[in-house]
Amino acid sequence: MIVTSHGPGKVDIKTPAKLNLYLEVVGKRADGFHDLETIMHTVDLFDEISVARADEGLSFSTSGIDAGPDEGNLGLRAAQIFFARTGGRGRATIHIHKNIPMGAGLGGGSSDTAAVLVGLNLALGEPLAREELIAMGNQLGSDMAFFFTGGTALCTGRGEKVEPIDGVGPFRFSLVYPGFPSITRDVFQNLNLGLTKTKNNTSIFIDILKNGTPQALGRAFFNRLEEAAFRTASSLRQFREQLKKRDPGAYHLSGSGSTFFRLVPDDSEKSLGASTLQGEYSPAMFDVRSYTPSDQ
Ligand code: C5P
Repeated sequence: MIVTSHGPGKVDIKTPAKLNLYLEVVGKRADGFHDLETIMHTVDLFDEISVARADEGLSFSTSGIDAGPDEGNLGLRAAQIFFARTGGRGRATIHIHKNIPMGAGLGGGSSDTAAVLVGLNLALGEPLAREELIAMGNQLGSDMAFFFTGGTALCTGRGEKVEPIDGVGPFRFSLVYPGFPSITRDVFQNLNLGLTKTKNNTSIFIDILKNGTPQALGRAFFNRLEEAAFRTASSLRQFREQLKKRDPGAYHLSGSGSTFFRLVPDDSEKSLGASTLQGEYSPAMFDVRSYTPSDQ
């Protein structure tokens, strides 16, 4: 997160998207969730959050790409939990400008939630410890904790146990969002772990991530959820086939989808910036680089 303070009671935060460079499902748990071993990596596609202390009431708004109805917004729910915990009536104005597509496997909703919690805490004079903010985030989703740190980390458990990995990258990636979201719960439901005979080895991946050539890394990206995501939405499989015809580079799904990413090994390759592709839906491409917080 990039935090800018504007005097007492007002904070702006840029909060990044993530890619799952590696994702293995270790097993299904008694609580219905799955234990994961995933390596998350932040990139420089940011949502922009503004939080200001207010005299009365909690007001919440969004702009940018469609964030769906405010009522279900994780950022708003995080603010409600924050004020319930700190005992006061909500007194803040929160605005989220969205650049990260929703339901895209890029962690946008989780990243916003972490930023809202950090922003509220700073704007209100830091009533809560960082650990309490992370615990609130964990109530709202599995990959929330990672965004309090960012950079590169091995995330285990449901995804909430975060071990930072340093000495990774920076890399450049091309992202392709197909123009429609993926539903995480459905993808996990369609996962057939019985078919999985051999588990991938996370430490071998970390070694390639730190020391391998771009070619070796391009081959090593792995996502156990990919087949389940294709079974869940045949449109996603079709989109990947079209993508392969247009660009033979190796594309991988991030998280439960729906965004594909490709490592761009050659820095001289022309940047596409953020651009729209032709297609039945409204696909979009983003040219991004690793985002490493300055305190890492
Ligand atoms: O935690 P989050 O809201 O992102 O998860 C959405 C759904 O994905 C969960 O309700 C669960 O069905 C599934 N999930 C899972 N194992 C995880 C994370 C998510 O089964 N580690």
